[in-house]
Amino acid sequence: MCGITGYIGQRSAWEMILGGLKRLEYRGYDSAGVVTVADGSLQVARSVGHIRALEEATPGGLPGHVGIGHTRWATHGGVSEANCHPHRDSKNRIALVHNGIVDNVEALRRELLAEGVKFRSETDTEVLSELVGRGVARGQSLLDAVLGALNRMEGTAGIVVVDQERPDRLVAARIGSPVVLGIGEGEMWVASDPLALRQYTERMVVLEDGEIAELTARGFKTVDLDNRDREKRVEKILHQAEAAELGSYAHYMLKEINEQPDALDRSMRGRLDAAMGSSHLGGLQSHRARLFEVQRVVFFGCGTSLYSAEVGAYLMSSYARVPAQAQDAAELAVQNPIVDSRTLYVAISQSGETADTLAALREIKLKGGLVAGVTNVVGSSLARETDFGTYVHAGPEISVCSTKAFTAQVLATELLALQFARMRDLSATDGRTWVKALEQLPAQVRFMLEHAPACKAIAQRFGGSKFTMFVGRGANVPVAQEGALKLKEIAYVPAEGLSGAAMKHGPLALIEPGLPVWALVPPDETRERMLGNLRELKARGAHITAVAAGDDEEVRGLVDEVLALPPHHPAVSPILTVIPLQLYAYYSALKLGYDIDKPRNLAKSVTVM
Ligand code: G6P
Repeated sequence: MCGITGYIGQRSAWEMILGGLKRLEYRGYDSAGVVTVADGSLQVARSVGHIRALEEATPGGLPGHVGIGHTRWATHGGVSEANCHPHRDSKNRIALVHNGIVDNVEALRRELLAEGVKFRSETDTEVLSELVGRGVARGQSLLDAVLGALNRMEGTAGIVVVDQERPDRLVAARIGSPVVLGIGEGEMWVASDPLALRQYTERMVVLEDGEIAELTARGFKTVDLDNRDREKRVEKILHQAEAAELGSYAHYMLKEINEQPDALDRSMRGRLDAAMGSSHLGGLQSHRARLFEVQRVVFFGCGTSLYSAEVGAYLMSSYARVPAQAQDAAELAVQNPIVDSRTLYVAISQSGETADTLAALREIKLKGGLVAGVTNVVGSSLARETDFGTYVHAGPEISVCSTKAFTAQVLATELLALQFARMRDLSATDGRTWVKALEQLPAQVRFMLEHAPACKAIAQRFGGSKFTMFVGRGANVPVAQEGALKLKEIAYVPAEGLSGAAMKHGPLALIEPGLPVWALVPPDETRERMLGNLRELKARGAHITAVAAGDDEEVRGLVDEVLALPPHHPAVSPILTVIPLQLYAYYSALKLGYDIDKPRNLAKSVTVM
């Protein structure tokens, strides 16, 4: 699960590749490497650590106008320079970068070892380099050698390959892991994500699964695994490059937290129907007839996207009265799901590339299910493979810790639930009230962002606690889980997010005097029971921060501090209650001095199962 990139043209390949890798670091950042070709030989720079470390270790960069680069998130083999990509064949003629996993690595390695190959790393990728190297050594073109290697491989591979004896070309392939080509005038780029290309060009070509491209400075050709020509369409890269810049913020996470009002505004623009009290989600219109038949909705995703799926399931069943559930995509993919034609499946993924989510979606489609997609990345695998769907338009999310994608995804499920509710029993009056509530969200999120100084002060005091609990009920159970996930991800604080109902069945035993608890107590049907939870927590000496209505004196009397919610419709509370939890995690990690945008052991996009 890594970022790969390549360049061929007239400019410095080193600079082009590093610029691309910096944009891809969210895919992995435990080590990085670049290979260029100059004076007929491969020039290599590899180093453990972030791209910054690679730059520092290579003063002056590498010469040459063609090359490939990689930023790694270790799967096969530990984090070491030997395991850094690019990997070369044993004759040091070709170099290859790889995102994916070679499933039959042991069989291939055994065969090559028997033929006397000496491997220099523990990676599965080196086996691919060796297979390609053997092909070119036998006189095959680079393209044929790559085809030969891929046809022997089982698994996933986004790859880019360079040959020191043919520096006029690169070969790239997409087998299960995304690859896009960037088109310029007399130059070409390749990367695992359009995000790496936007700074250089507006034109891209997205390889489909099983496609291989040969790039020269003047253009490209594409074939399938049987070497048959494939026609490709040039697409425009959306989003502006500036949107991915850090600007005056100290971290992407803080920037992205603060972008939420604008992101929500963009996400709902043109999608609310104030007159009808409903929503339009473009992609849904063409399937309207079938949507009337839907009797069950299953939302699925991983990590933060799973929590937005849980909010979506809650909204769908409470407001549209359609039985709905959320499932971890990884579990759904392997449990041989029972798929029926009256169920709508909704895949949620910020990146649109999470391997478990794609596996679940493919399994459901194989069984004839109808799958809608909710994603932030235009042209992602999820967007391409679902039957229809919606983009959340949150703008590029760079920090590994997801914030604005969560609220934008929840908003997408609100729009979906509203549409379903109006297609069924929700009255026009109630629909209009919900629409108004959605329209007010950007301003209300701005109001919640003003709690930043309070969140910072609480983090100063409790940020490094040995344990933190987040409690909510109803639609705020997944928000509590999301709050705990943020804190675990970036501040490395053991944390649990749970339903107030579950507290006394075990987790209450973890509470000691002075331990911090965040309680989500919006003024809705969950409030009364949450009051009971507050009493139980107070009796055991927890330090309680409540996110509750500003005028709720009863809550105020039971807790240590209240972060006020503005008056709001109960359906939108998850988008408001999550904001202080994001800020608390951010300021906790800041106090503890951690690398906020690149937490240890994680990557933003998990493209392996
Ligand atoms: C990784 C990231 C999480 C993210 C999850 C799902 O685990 O670290 O922040 O929520 O993947 O990502 P997706 O792109 O599918 O939303």
